[in-house]
Amino acid sequence: MDALAVSGNGPLRGQTFASGSKNAALPLLASALLAKGTCHFENVPQLADIRTMLKLLRHIGLEASMEQNSCTLHNPGMANPEAPYELVKTMRASVLVLGPLLAKYGKAKVSLPGGCAIGARPIDLHLKALSAMGADISLSGGYVEASAQRLRGADFRFDTISVTGTENIVMAASLAKGITRIRNAAQEPEVTELVVALKKMGAKIEWEKPNELVVEGVEELTPCRHAVCADRIEAGTLLVAAAITGGDVLVQNAQAAHLGAVIDKLKEAGCEISEAQENGGGLRLVAPPRPRPLQLQTQEYPGFPTDMQAQFMALLSMADGDSEISENIFENRYMHVAELCRMGAHIHVSGTHALIHGVPQLSGAPVMATDLRASASLVLAALRAEGTTTISRVYHLDRGYERLEEKLALLGAKVERIRG
Ligand code: UD1
Repeated sequence: MDALAVSGNGPLRGQTFASGSKNAALPLLASALLAKGTCHFENVPQLADIRTMLKLLRHIGLEASMEQNSCTLHNPGMANPEAPYELVKTMRASVLVLGPLLAKYGKAKVSLPGGCAIGARPIDLHLKALSAMGADISLSGGYVEASAQRLRGADFRFDTISVTGTENIVMAASLAKGITRIRNAAQEPEVTELVVALKKMGAKIEWEKPNELVVEGVEELTPCRHAVCADRIEAGTLLVAAAITGGDVLVQNAQAAHLGAVIDKLKEAGCEISEAQENGGGLRLVAPPRPRPLQLQTQEYPGFPTDMQAQFMALLSMADGDSEISENIFENRYMHVAELCRMGAHIHVSGTHALIHGVPQLSGAPVMATDLRASASLVLAALRAEGTTTISRVYHLDRGYERLEEKLALLGAKVERIRG
């Protein structure tokens, strides 16, 4: 298992960029199940989760190839509508094949998902919505088995906002008979991007309100070509890397429109952020030597993203004062806390609430990555720590960040991958 050795090397400076969005790419790849023929996706990041999705789609019967960041998916029009445990266990987003398989092929057998160990993370709402659309659903031996002659439109309200839940249902509804109304839909940019791509494929979808989608099912969809947007979480992580080191960094393709809540908090912490005019835009962050403390709570988009909570925890661990974080989306998303404390952070967790007493300096230590965003927070803390931090189990990081160490090295960071 690879590890990363990171040594604090002063403020980061220069220009970098974010790769294509993992969370946008995953549902887009799954949407290729909906149309016979060949879909092309550009700017797809080369990541473990993407490789898992391609493996899964090949298992189902698609021909999938990836060259650099271009992905071609050929759907011959027939499928083995099964997502086995071996493929699903490593990635929860595998559940995204459920809606398309059921809508296009009338049946699906999908293993219950695994993925990041950040809470129970059920898929009950996905199943409830599909059953409201007429699917017969049963659970046995760790698998969901679903069938429907043809799904029919329904008026469905998500009790809890779910990103992949909304994506699954909007894909299923695109080929259902009649109109589906999805209330309390997730509004994340990745959902909006999926809707854009589905419309290119011939789907009839409108945002009736910011949190309500109306889908008029069509008989058939046709393949599309689509370029994946930049990863807002990776862009945000790079901005925090600049902030934690007191640096001055331009993230060339960071989109302010996707990062509103993150930008607000970085400004509140004392960073200057401007939209760059040259070279096609991006966001430039100039950081103070030490951030100001913050209070923040994670919320669904457009609120502060849970996927940025761990990175901000690293930042606030060396703020000039006491900060508070409330994690409102996942119940077990503080696994980075113990590791940050090993690096000298003072953090006290009580339930979903964390109190962070800022310290002037962190120190390098051997630490262990426990999930995707937790890994990122350890890398960030290490950039600011005195001495060397060795982060083991970086396969978690590799699930969601494309060549992060190279991007940070471009900015002057000392990051070395130790192959193991
Ligand atoms: C997606 C993102 C993930 C991000 C999360 C929240 C992808 C591939 N992953 O995950 O990076 O952290 O959104 O922004 O896009 N819930 C239920 N029942 C369900 C579904 C969800 O109770 O059927 C709950 C979850 O336990 C959680 C909350 O709803 O508490 C939000 O989860 P959800 O939006 O579904 O997360 P994912 O789509 O898995």
